[in-house]
Amino acid sequence: MPTTQAIPRTAPTKQGAFWTAKQRDGHSIHEVSYRACYKPQLPAYFIERYAKPGQLIYDPFMGRGTTLIEAKLLGHNVIGNDVNPLSTILTAPRLCEQSFEKILHRIEQISLPTTEIEDEELLVFFEARTLRELYGWRSYFKARHSAGTFDEIDAWLQMVACNRLTGHSKGFFSVYTLPPIKPPHSMHSVRLTPSAIRSQRIATPRN
Ligand SMILES: C[S@@+](CC[C@H](N)C(=O)[O-])C[C@H]1O[C@@H](n2cnc3c(N)ncnc32)[C@H](O)[C@@H]1O
Repeated sequence: MPTTQAIPRTAPTKQGAFWTAKQRDGHSIHEVSYRACYKPQLPAYFIERYAKPGQLIYDPFMGRGTTLIEAKLLGHNVIGNDVNPLSTILTAPRLCEQSFEKILHRIEQISLPTTEIEDEELLVFFEARTLRELYGWRSYFKARHSAGTFDEIDAWLQMVACNRLTGHSKGFFSVYTLPPIKPPHSMHSVRLTPSAIRSQRIATPRN
């Protein structure tokens, strides 16, 4: 006769402070902007306790890659995917850091194509020269993909460009954070404050 066992009504729980109050306590490689992300201390807590050394860590919703990057920093091999293509653009290059010299060398080699402004609506967010340069980068990345020459240095540059694309503070290309869900035609409804208009950011001219 099969015996039935009583199933516990509650799973075992642990209580404690699993991450610090200081937002920037983790490795600086984590610092990219992405909607809905958590601090690296959270995955670190579970990986350190429940994964065997060197074990493969899989994140099926990898987002900006906090779990995978933390796992890599802790010596694990990692694999992941996400429905949002931006996730791969932001995560994959940071799993394979590039040297500053290589990145600088590539930037010096690139001559960006001159492009016209296609989306006037975006002038609400970007100074015209900055926007033209962003179109130039987009054309460059597309051309490298078409030619089959897009490599890990290009992926790093694309990650940085996407990360810096839109935000309020210094260091972002836009003067104003783009609404993440609004379709382009509704961006007309966004109104800039006078101080935001005065502080429109201009890309440093390239030779
Ligand atoms: C909170 S973020 C994940 C954070 C991530 N685990 C990390 O370590 O940084 C949630 C992610 O789930 C992704 N997502 C939501 N539904 C999904 C699905 N059905 N398949 C794949 N990814 C999905 C979203 O695009 C988003 O990037």
